[in-house]
Amino acid sequence: MYKPKVYITRELPERGLKKILERFDAEVWPEYGPPPKQIIIEKVRDVDALVTLLSDKIDAEVFDAAPKLKIVAQMAVGFDNIDVEEATRRGIYVTNTPGVLTETTADFAWALLMAIARRVVEADKYVREGRWKVGWHPSMLLGRDVYGATLGIIGAGRIGSAVAKRAKCFNMRILYYDVVRNPQIEKETGAVFVDLDTLLRESDFISIHVPLTKETYHLIDAEKLSLVKKTAYLINTSRGQVIDEKALCNALKEGRLAGAALDVFEQEPLPADSPLLKLDNVILTPHIASASYETRSRMAEIVAENLIAFFDGKVPPNLVNPDVVKVNPLQPVK
Ligand code: GLV
Repeated sequence: MYKPKVYITRELPERGLKKILERFDAEVWPEYGPPPKQIIIEKVRDVDALVTLLSDKIDAEVFDAAPKLKIVAQMAVGFDNIDVEEATRRGIYVTNTPGVLTETTADFAWALLMAIARRVVEADKYVREGRWKVGWHPSMLLGRDVYGATLGIIGAGRIGSAVAKRAKCFNMRILYYDVVRNPQIEKETGAVFVDLDTLLRESDFISIHVPLTKETYHLIDAEKLSLVKKTAYLINTSRGQVIDEKALCNALKEGRLAGAALDVFEQEPLPADSPLLKLDNVILTPHIASASYETRSRMAEIVAENLIAFFDGKVPPNLVNPDVVKVNPLQPVK
């Protein structure tokens, strides 16, 4: 039986990798960092499938070099690094790994929210740097209450809804904005659907959970930031490009919002000269919202399951471009 050839752009967690190695003729990029695009272009020449991460840019140039490529299986829920329209036109299937990372990502958005509100990272530094000279002081490192505050959720999909469920336990007033109303989040959490400007004006905490698309690029720009309360905090675990980072830096520097906790950036890794690094009222983490042992392992398994389903001639469970089936009907590979 023909073993389809797969190129994997990074070593995946073991359970998923093992499943792929059992079934396919797979090669793995061995380094910790991403393969240069030129390497991907060389490696795809002869492969049937490509396994990617969100840092790999997969576009027409890659597809041009890959005459046999049938499926791109991404290990992430977001897939803005892949030109899906181009893939569909060429009959290439694209899959992602949604669902399994929802709760883990929502937990992390909450970790950032609590940490920025109560200055956890700053306080840790304060102790380590030997600045804790007075045992207790009524105005030492004051933060803001989370319990009972107003939370604005931008993007009420799976992750936004999971964040809202946690907010309910903190007795928060929950506002949400999305392009479509989500009756489920309203029913389960009492969240109120508002327009984006109202959400920005009224929230004490704003948490972003939209995918990056042409429509959401710089959704939060200087004008939108001018609506936010001076005492509000912005949390972003979606994609960096949803926020105009320069405008955010200016707003933070000028005290036009209280702080931001960011797991994602316009450029990743964050450049060493980023002005964000100079600000005390921000928490910066290296795109790790889904980074738990359990979830990353499950994500890798889902990559394997998508590939196996496809090569068995079945619709992969997490197909992001269903129209591709018309362009290139499924058939098992013998
Ligand atoms: C991570 O950012 C993901 O899209 O899974």
